[in-house]
Amino acid sequence: MKITILLIVAYLLGAIPNGIWIGKVFFNKDITKLGSGNMGTTNTFRELGKTAGAVVMVLDILKGTIATLLPTFFHISNVSPIVFGLFAVLGHTLSIFAKFKGGKAVATSAGMLLAIHPILFLCAFIFEISFTYLTSMVSVASMISFPLITILILLDHDYVLGVIGIILTIFIFIKHRSNIQRIKEGNENLVPFGLVYKH
Ligand code: G3P
Repeated sequence: MKITILLIVAYLLGAIPNGIWIGKVFFNKDITKLGSGNMGTTNTFRELGKTAGAVVMVLDILKGTIATLLPTFFHISNVSPIVFGLFAVLGHTLSIFAKFKGGKAVATSAGMLLAIHPILFLCAFIFEISFTYLTSMVSVASMISFPLITILILLDHDYVLGVIGIILTIFIFIKHRSNIQRIKEGNENLVPFGLVYKH
């Protein structure tokens, strides 16, 4: 019973649509009707500015981290923390507070990684920033960073987390279908950062 309630809490935590409420409360704008329509960090950063984007990024990462730490807080040892993190990712992508739409799982998955493996989280953060700098496209950075981190996990012989990494990588690519289409057409949305974006 306690585990079921905590899994629901993890889902609800993940489902908090930070991009949407920050857009409405502070900018009187609906982020889902701007830019890519995504409620995540990248679209918030592009459409509502750096501060709003940074706040959404931190809050979306924290959703995954706190959810993954729930079993530690409540002394549960018979269910892996990863399961709680995945429930937060589920909430983030299929949010009950956003008509079962949501983000692309990047920041919340990263938050899960922060709770499980802080050093790899740091690597993921460096990859994400570096590839965004090279391409000015967060989508490209995300689609490169996830497989790279999964390879690092597998090289570390953590096969359980490695399989989760493979599943999340496939999921990330599925969630970025529209981005892949735009990249192919040469009209992916750029963030105002890095080598490709023209000021
Ligand atoms: O984190 C999502 C990012 O990889 C792409 O977002 O808004 O460009 O579709 P967006």
